[in-house]
Amino acid sequence: MKDLDALYKKYLGRKGSLALALRTIGGLPKEERAKRARSLQDLKKELEGLIKDKSDELRRANEGRALKGEWIDTSAPGGKVRRGHLHPLSQIQQKVNEIFTSLGFEVAEGPEVESEWYNFDALNIPATHPARDMWDTFWLRQSQRGPALLMRTHTSPVQARYMEHHQPPFRIIAPGRVFRYEASDASHDIQFYQVEGLMVDKDISVASFKAVISEFLKGLFGEKVKTRLRPSFFPFVEPGFEVDMSCIVCQAGSKDKGVPRFRSGQVCSVCHGTTWVEIMGAGMAHPNVLKAAGYNPKGLQGFAFGIGIDRIAMMKYRVDDIRLFYGGDLRFLKQF
Ligand code: DAH
Repeated sequence: MKDLDALYKKYLGRKGSLALALRTIGGLPKEERAKRARSLQDLKKELEGLIKDKSDELRRANEGRALKGEWIDTSAPGGKVRRGHLHPLSQIQQKVNEIFTSLGFEVAEGPEVESEWYNFDALNIPATHPARDMWDTFWLRQSQRGPALLMRTHTSPVQARYMEHHQPPFRIIAPGRVFRYEASDASHDIQFYQVEGLMVDKDISVASFKAVISEFLKGLFGEKVKTRLRPSFFPFVEPGFEVDMSCIVCQAGSKDKGVPRFRSGQVCSVCHGTTWVEIMGAGMAHPNVLKAAGYNPKGLQGFAFGIGIDRIAMMKYRVDDIRLFYGGDLRFLKQF
């Protein structure tokens, strides 16, 4: 077949002998031109016909050979198409969405490239406030040219965006990716996932929050899991808490001088023997945040929370390095 192509190129190609011969016609005496052109055209047709015949013949021979060499066993069982599956973080994300929607929460979304206003100011963190240092920010554009832009450091800005266009009462969650400018190690990465939550109504209390969040954790980790709140500070809530859940990795641990240990004598590496693992920040919506959204905060309360999805996944699947989720190593991912 290759030889045939070369032959075609040599005689019939754009720069082949025939094309060159056709070009010389102009230099011939007038009477001879038409005759010469006709004979060259006849030659061209003849050559084209010959090459086509030969190439058809070769193709037929090839097909015949393939059919002789291969055969199909129509009675053999079919090969199974291997199906992929969702990334472990997406699986957890779906489960989280399921539990919260069953509790009446709606799912809201916001952009990953966020403005300074939504990421900070609207959340009661003005430019000069030291609380801005709580988040290591990737700035994309400083404010000289339009509003300053950044990769959102948390999902909390979705609170502000949602409240701008909705009136209470409501309850929402906002899952998504967030970014921090920091060195990565086994428990930190420059990107991770959070689920923000916000419920605003007239008679919302810390007790409402505790009820919702206990229900959520039980849905995810089973009935036995316990929840506790510790006082903490976040500028957009007052009071603020850190939420811990009982460590599910060392539930089987026996207490030895107050420190839970595995039978092997090892102290649990997930809770470091404390039996509690921190999994979210939360609190009662700060009046300044409600005001920034255009609400009159009088008689209105709300609770807010921000859950680390990666933390939950690490706990649920007992993964000890967050970077495994983002490494794209199929040997790791196929286990879920
Ligand atoms: N946005 C916080 C963070 O990324 C987490 C958080 C804390 C969210 C308290 C909240 C909250 O809604 O009330 O560190």
